[in-house]
Amino acid sequence: MRFGHFDDAAREYVITTPLTPYPWINYLGSEEFFSLISHQAGGYSFYRDARMRRLTRYRYNNVPTDVGGRYLYVNDGGDVWTPSYLPVKAELDHFETRHGLGYTRITGERRGVRVESLFFVPRGENAEVQRVTVTNTSDAAKQVTLFSFVEFALWNALDDQTNYQRNLSIGEVEVELDSPHGSAIYHKTEYRERRNHFAVHAVNTRAAGFDTDRQTFTGEYNGLHEPQVPLAGASTNTVASGWYPIGSLSVPVELAPGESRTLTFVLGYLENPDDAKWADDAHQVVNKAPAHELLGRFATTEQVDAAFDALRDSWSELLSAYTVQSTDPKLDRMVNIWNQYQCMVTFNMSRSASYFETGIGRGMGFRDSAQDLLGFVHLVPERARERILDIAATQFPDGSAYHQYQPLTKRGNLDVGSGFNDDPMWLVAAVAAYLKETGDFSILDEKVAFDNDDALADSLFEHLTRSFQYTVTHKGPHGLPLIGRADWNDCLNLNCFSTTPGESFQTTENQAGGVAESVFIGAQFVLYGAEYAAIAERRGLADVAAAAREEVAAMKATVEDAGWDGRWFRRAYDYYGTPIGTDEDTEGKIFIEPQGVAVMAGIGVTSTDPTAPEFTASKAAQALDATGELLGCEHGLVIVYPAYTTYRLNMGEITTYPPGYKENGGIFCHNNPWVIIGETVLGRGDRAFDYYKRITPAYREDISEVHRLEPYVYAQMIAGKEAPRMGEAKNSFLTGTAAWTFVAASQYLLGVRPDYEGLVVDPQLGPDVPEFTVTRKARGATYVITVKNSGTPGARARLTVDGEAVEGRLVPYAPAGTTVQVTAEI
Ligand code: GLC
Ligand code: GLC
Repeated sequence: MRFGHFDDAAREYVITTPLTPYPWINYLGSEEFFSLISHQAGGYSFYRDARMRRLTRYRYNNVPTDVGGRYLYVNDGGDVWTPSYLPVKAELDHFETRHGLGYTRITGERRGVRVESLFFVPRGENAEVQRVTVTNTSDAAKQVTLFSFVEFALWNALDDQTNYQRNLSIGEVEVELDSPHGSAIYHKTEYRERRNHFAVHAVNTRAAGFDTDRQTFTGEYNGLHEPQVPLAGASTNTVASGWYPIGSLSVPVELAPGESRTLTFVLGYLENPDDAKWADDAHQVVNKAPAHELLGRFATTEQVDAAFDALRDSWSELLSAYTVQSTDPKLDRMVNIWNQYQCMVTFNMSRSASYFETGIGRGMGFRDSAQDLLGFVHLVPERARERILDIAATQFPDGSAYHQYQPLTKRGNLDVGSGFNDDPMWLVAAVAAYLKETGDFSILDEKVAFDNDDALADSLFEHLTRSFQYTVTHKGPHGLPLIGRADWNDCLNLNCFSTTPGESFQTTENQAGGVAESVFIGAQFVLYGAEYAAIAERRGLADVAAAAREEVAAMKATVEDAGWDGRWFRRAYDYYGTPIGTDEDTEGKIFIEPQGVAVMAGIGVTSTDPTAPEFTASKAAQALDATGELLGCEHGLVIVYPAYTTYRLNMGEITTYPPGYKENGGIFCHNNPWVIIGETVLGRGDRAFDYYKRITPAYREDISEVHRLEPYVYAQMIAGKEAPRMGEAKNSFLTGTAAWTFVAASQYLLGVRPDYEGLVVDPQLGPDVPEFTVTRKARGATYVITVKNSGTPGARARLTVDGEAVEGRLVPYAPAGTTVQVTAEI
């Protein structure tokens, strides 16, 4: 069952009923000001840091769901309704939400009044703009009054929800009914003391009235679905003093039949220099000059429309870096639009703010951000460069890393600390991807702090060396890397032994002497250790490269030996040296992570031709065969099988989840692409494409009532085959799945990937897509790659470049500004 449809030409998902199974959201902004917006106008806004600079309130865990947003109430002759359906829930004659790239358009119509709101954050602005068009669709004259509503958060989102003894006395606002460009409400809580920032909520016409006191707006004991002021039809001009400051402006609109009127509301964030905070110091009147300038830039519909066009153009330009045209529209819309869009959202948000992440919990993850970069480096290489340097600066001198850092300060987060032993090698992965994309080797010479301490700064290349050496010098009894607190799987806490309820498995003290080892990190080291060697070689450090390759070869042998269980790769060894992820166990026999990454790294790969006689006996083929058989279900590949049914003290958080959810047997989408890529390495593109389709939202759109989350973006998890709610997704938007599925689809299924000397063209996706064309921009040149694909197992592309047949599968980089025609026949 569907709740809408894709509009590929407009690059929108069109939701046609307010009653989706869960709020389906979008993000506005991609620089410093961000908003979350649901299809019912729920959500909130913040400046740079969702915890420290929250502009508006949203109520997680609320009943009913999705309360808190920017709402517009319509009073039409006493009939009060909201075009976004929520909060009033009056029945609508027409409802439609279009989520586009950086904008959302919500249209509701009732009894001859149609209200369309377009929400976006203009480029270069710290503001959410709402362009409202009210149309009289009836054949009689209409007189309606609009009431806007936003509820201000008192900046620090955690304090805002916990510190009521203070906060209910500090709220302050100022109101300008006669502001230079209309009417404006200023939220200035704590501005009197140490803050130099304030918010504005404004409309580009003179409002009839305003309210800034929430209790007056709603009325005693009323909710946002039955607010007193819109019901009574007139603002009461309240000025908040403490309690709950809001912004509400009322605008009467008269319309002849068929007539429309357009208005613009703005929610903005402003800062003043410390010596220019006040217009009138004695009376504590805020200097509103920057706000007036902001509102002046959106005073007319023409200005708003121009800003919107500029936003759309910037997305068109951004997404032109990689496009595919194939016979499969679902593949095209994911690759061309939604997957790349989600990569940009993870670039902006990391794991901070979504409908599942409150924006007050986590900072930017070291491993998360490094992996996210794999999905956006081709879109914004300059910003990827900056991100790499920020991440690297939180590395410790011994090569380990802060697990998280705060976006506002860019400093490592002490609360979480370090000890996740996969972290260091993700830095190598990110830098290798950046170098291949850009050819900018100068980044390796950048001086980057260790532990945010400039006195310890050394070259970025030295950071990579410390990453590499950290793994080399932290091995356990089997010669495999020590796992530390956890590896990629945050919940595999093999040294932890926690018995205290509520204690964090990630930060609590580990049991002393922990020697638990990770096969996953072993495989990851083989994969990215080879990248480190390649980088060293390109720096002219042949000895370093040779020594690194020896370490990698040794680890490869160890993974094939101590890491091999007989039919698949083991997952780990626990504190006592007992294997995890073994057929000998009753539960948790096989884990997905080492299978995919080992094959990506070439471990156990002795043949890449599935038709060759020796193929099936290779460890790689056996491991991926077992993966498909034991971990597969119609919704994807589960992370572990069978799921654990009891809490195991020696394993930690993974065994705290009921079977089939999250790390305990959920389909943890992030790691499915590792198997997808592994299958392409083995020449089994048909399997790879099949696995891709199982988790990819556009292919799951028809079962939206089962999947329940947005059909245009990946979720972190889909409940696995042992879960009562199998197939149901959770944690949409902010997941490493975005980057990894884009890497899998663009670089391995469609097979166009940047290397140091050129683009590799090596499509592997089976026979379902017989023809397609990829247009890839790289280093200033454009490559048009036309593929004829038989899908024959094991067959590899034969290339012509500008009409000439070439050996191998590399298309050398061409001068900037040129276009290269490539054909590939498989
Ligand atoms: C979450 C974390 C990520 C981790 C994964 C598996 O997605 O953000 O860092 O690798 O869970 O535990
Ligand atoms: C990851 C995991 C989650 C775990 C968390 C701890 O997000 O998915 O299950 O609780 O990390 O930080």
